[in-house]
Amino acid sequence: MSESFSPKIITEVPGNYRLMREDDIPAVFAIDEDIYPFPWTEGIFKDCITAGQLCIINVIDHQVAAYGVVGMIVNEAHILNLSVRSDLQGKGYGREMLLYLLDLIKKNGAERALLEVRQSNQIARKLYQSMGFEEIGVRKGYYPDHEGREDAIVLALGIDSGL
Ligand SMILES: CC(C)(COP(=O)(O)OP(=O)(O)OC[C@H]1O[C@@H](n2cnc3c(N)ncnc32)[C@H](O)[C@@H]1OP(=O)(O)O)[C@@H](O)C(=O)NCCC(=O)NCCS
Repeated sequence: MSESFSPKIITEVPGNYRLMREDDIPAVFAIDEDIYPFPWTEGIFKDCITAGQLCIINVIDHQVAAYGVVGMIVNEAHILNLSVRSDLQGKGYGREMLLYLLDLIKKNGAERALLEVRQSNQIARKLYQSMGFEEIGVRKGYYPDHEGREDAIVLALGIDSGL
């Protein structure tokens, strides 16, 4: 049976990066709703916080600029959400958040990071590829889309590989 993972590093969150709190959820949800055709609900973010997943935000000028959510199961980390506010995309914040999450994942002892990305999401795929993620599979029809379903590409990164 899989064992739930307790984050060990939360006191080390520096600078503009900090843990997401429940009172951040409306701002985070507003971004999610703006940037995804099928956003998460506020309840999903709340459940992630309650479940002790690594929910991180980057705050710039007192506003949420980017966020990431990572589920940890024993020695594997699943990056469940990585998002940048639309007016700040393309300025390096996504790569910075991903690096930040990978550092937390490493400090928490995971050996591998996994994520799913929409097949059509060329920007995110390029980012992940540049960070060394490799395609390990396809989940057919994983995501809803306006024409039906879209495949997810499953990507993995060995945590000691070059980080
Ligand atoms: C995907 C996302 C997290 C990337 O964050 P970002 O801050 O916009 O991207 P960055 O500025 O950090 O750029 C990282 C890399 O992404 C790629 N990229 C970024 N913008 C791009 C663009 N307009 N066209 C092509 N590639 C682009 C490049 O590879 C870039 O690296 P480079 O600057 O060295 O060329 C962000 O755009 C986002 O939130 N998109 C909507 C939600 C989403 O798709 N999340 C990922 C779900 S799996």
